[in-house]
Amino acid sequence: MEILENFVLKSYNTFGIPAKARFFIHIQTTEELQELINTPVFKQNERLILGGGSNLLFTQDFDGLVVKTAQKGIVLVKEDAQHFYVKVQAGENWHQFVLRTVEEGWQGLENLSLIPGTVGAAPIQNIGAYGVEVEQFIFEVNAIDLQSGALRTFAASECKFAYRNSVFKQELKGKYLISEVTFRLNKLPKFNLTYAALNQYLEAQNIVLPTQKAISEAVINIRSSKLPNPEEIGNCGSFFKNPVVEEAVFKRVLSENTNMPYYSAGEGFYKIPAGWLIEQCGFKGKVFGNVGTYSKQALVLVNCGNATGKEAWDFANKIIDTVADRFGISLEPEVNII
Ligand code: EPU
Repeated sequence: MEILENFVLKSYNTFGIPAKARFFIHIQTTEELQELINTPVFKQNERLILGGGSNLLFTQDFDGLVVKTAQKGIVLVKEDAQHFYVKVQAGENWHQFVLRTVEEGWQGLENLSLIPGTVGAAPIQNIGAYGVEVEQFIFEVNAIDLQSGALRTFAASECKFAYRNSVFKQELKGKYLISEVTFRLNKLPKFNLTYAALNQYLEAQNIVLPTQKAISEAVINIRSSKLPNPEEIGNCGSFFKNPVVEEAVFKRVLSENTNMPYYSAGEGFYKIPAGWLIEQCGFKGKVFGNVGTYSKQALVLVNCGNATGKEAWDFANKIIDTVADRFGISLEPEVNII
């Protein structure tokens, strides 16, 4: 087990921030992790568990131990009349796993094609896109208690999933390392075509009875046309959550902006696209020094070259302040700020 010091994290976060970790270790197996838990460097330092590094922003160097997980494996563990139960190791790449489900006919995750990151990170923020959230297909999550090394199984209900949120981002933050996720996927397809952009895309292609593969390809094409590829332009997807506001706020903003897009978010609440709010404030496609917002989706902050974490965070705060002044709505980061 090799623990590296003063390790540069630039290629371990998709925003491409050159922050340094005081200590860094690459973990390939659960046994290695259990061994690590008993070492002084683990016990005496603040820890950060890193999957694909696609949902975080380093605002400064990390004065602790970064643990990069890389356990691999996809196993069909059980079948019943309606479902396939598939157990996946945390270090598997999310999109490669989705492609495998499409190939095998394990149905449910195709709307979540091309999301960057790892399988182990997916439950933490309950990844979602095009009308589907991963919680709908999670059966259980296995995680290792970072204090004792014991393995605990969380039933889906114990994960407290919500919009881009879970128990692993709240009360259990930093306490567990997700080692495996078991998905319950459909045998008989029940496609989700509720998202207008997806529906319109399939219609435009004259696809009347879509297959799992056609939906996956449609999502890949829509995402590629709207979102920057992190391998080409540093970014971490949507930087903010779409704010959910009360009816009074919603009505006030709508009366001043009759063309505002919105979704109902339960009785008396409305979700307003943060990308729209940011665009209205004039930030879309604008670059300030080394950071900016993406020209086709203002909700995505981009690294235009050699951005530091501080620069990116200062820019994010400038957006938060401007949106608050103009609309009286506060944006919250969707990414983890380190
Ligand atoms: N919009 C603008 N200007 C912009 C961006 C968006 O006016 O610059 C408007 C669009 O015209 C549309 C609405 O905002 O009316 C929604 O835009 P879009 O369909 O692009 O989705 P989003 O709400 O901005 C969310 C997720 C994405 C996910 C898409 C598709 C969040 C925070 N983001 O974005 O997730 O891919 O829906 O389902 O919920 C991610 O989490 O990293 C991510 C990319």
